[in-house]
Amino acid sequence: MKLSIGVVGTGRMGSALARALLESGYRTTVWNRTKPKAEALAALGATVAASIPEVVSAAEIIIVCVTDYEAAAALLRDDAVASALRGKLIVQLTSGTPGGAREAHNWFAGHGASYLDGAMMATPDFIGTEAGTILISGPRPSFDANPDMFRALGGNVQHVGDDPGRANALDSALLALMWGALFGALHAIAVSQAEEIDLSELARQWSATAPVVDGLVADLIKRTKAGRFASDDETLSSISPHYSAFQHLLEVMDARAIDRSVVDAYDAMFQRAIAAGHLQDDFAALSQFMGKSGGTQNVVAAARR
Ligand SMILES: NC(=O)c1ccc[n+]([C@@H]2O[C@H](COP(=O)([O-])OP(=O)(O)OC[C@H]3O[C@@H](n4cnc5c(N)ncnc54)[C@H](OP(=O)(O)O)[C@@H]3O)[C@@H](O)[C@H]2O)c1
Repeated sequence: MKLSIGVVGTGRMGSALARALLESGYRTTVWNRTKPKAEALAALGATVAASIPEVVSAAEIIIVCVTDYEAAAALLRDDAVASALRGKLIVQLTSGTPGGAREAHNWFAGHGASYLDGAMMATPDFIGTEAGTILISGPRPSFDANPDMFRALGGNVQHVGDDPGRANALDSALLALMWGALFGALHAIAVSQAEEIDLSELARQWSATAPVVDGLVADLIKRTKAGRFASDDETLSSISPHYSAFQHLLEVMDARAIDRSVVDAYDAMFQRAIAAGHLQDDFAALSQFMGKSGGTQNVVAAARR
């Protein structure tokens, strides 16, 4: 018989998680602060709990998916709930920080519960599909004991480390990449509109350019890991041509009165690196200027780990 799963929080993501579990035949009990959102899942076979103690008592594994850790803690770290948590597995899929996940793990372990923390690298429509990616961290045995349940949530649910904070750390790293792309897109749209380029033309040309950018990102990560910052035979582009093309972007943005606040931060980093003598180094040399002090030691140490 399949395990009984509880889902605390049936907003967009929690509902998608509950639907995926129900489709895979799990007995699923749901709870949501605003009850109609949980009740909508009853038609698919979910049991709707009237309280948090009820959903925790009904399930062997409790998946939590609310807005933030503060809300999750307010719901679960309660005397009326704590005794029911003993022996259960909590899977926290609420977004949070590495430190928040470590602290939550310690709290649940201190109350006799196992704890895994996850980051969903997906939108709700990906949950339960082959392409659904969820990164999970925390004690590996708890992950390995439930392969079918994790498989039900997506085709690419991976354990990424015993440190409960690892999934959230990776989440922030990957979201930094995503926002880089999305804010970049905002700039591209603004320049295109100011220059009266049809946005479908921009979309078409981006499709052709995206693989080049993917290659540059992969190369940047590889070279930073290896600490290969000086230009060499494999360098795709040094800082120098990047900086000169970047001046063209600044010029057109000034000419068209486009907000420069984000690109001015790029400019400041370019200038710090160039002032430190890195103009002819590989673009990856900029990695050394990401620490608050702009120094090189942290990156070099990280590259060796
Ligand atoms: N949507 C995405 O594409 C996506 C992708 C990756 C990760 N995530 C993460 O998944 C989590 C849920 O996101 P979502 O998209 O499902 O958001 P959502 O649709 O806004 O749902 C938020 C959920 O949190 C509950 N909630 C918020 N504050 C609460 C409180 N103080 N007490 C009790 N319940 C509370 C809401 O209850 P009510 O219904 O009563 O308001 C609702 O169930 C977030 O941590 C988000 O970062 C979302």
